[in-house]
Amino acid sequence: MSRGKFITLEGGEGAGKSTQTTLLANFLRNEGLDVVQTREVGGAPSAEVLRDVWLDKKEGYWDPITEIFLIMAARREHLVKTVFPALARGAWVVSDRFVDSTRAYQGIGLGLGLDKVDKSYDLIAPGFEPDLTLLLDLPVNVGLARMASRGGHDDRYQQKKSDFHEKLREAYLTLARKYDSRFRIIDASMGQSAVTAALENAVRERFRL
Ligand code: TMP
Repeated sequence: MSRGKFITLEGGEGAGKSTQTTLLANFLRNEGLDVVQTREVGGAPSAEVLRDVWLDKKEGYWDPITEIFLIMAARREHLVKTVFPALARGAWVVSDRFVDSTRAYQGIGLGLGLDKVDKSYDLIAPGFEPDLTLLLDLPVNVGLARMASRGGHDDRYQQKKSDFHEKLREAYLTLARKYDSRFRIIDASMGQSAVTAALENAVRERFRL
């Protein structure tokens, strides 16, 4: 049995990642593959406990370095309990966010530095990176307007000013250049079905489905 593939979806707020993760997982199931759909922060019962602990408090409650360790602790649980066993049995894993979120949000956006993020990641998963990372990229004003129209959903960084979100967008584009062999940039300002088609094409092309 060959190892499965690990695909991650990344992007700022309002890019439609959650919906597209579900659609992509269904697309792969229709290709006859064994698929595990998951998310971060979370993706295993023990990791979801840590998600609640982390997201329950307003920004500023946790020391920023503590925050990196909370996220990495949740990530280790996610990897050991969900991702690694699935890949070992040959399943394909599709995750809504992974370590590039920590690189973009904590490392660059919040200014802690990529070095701290990469060092702590090296403790939990040395050398492990996704096979493919799909970056849903869109102008900040479009993403924030979509979030506002959705209403009710109060995530950690949605209240931040648009310059934080600009920094985040640039951070992701920088990561896409740094890891250009595994990143594909998808224009997420298109309509939902066009974005879905672009994601499917990227996956087909990368894995020759
Ligand atoms: P979600 O809205 O995609 O579920 O993510 C919840 C928030 O957590 C979102 O604002 C992004 C943030 N986040 C980080 O800051 N660092 C991380 O490593 C991850 C996975 C998420």
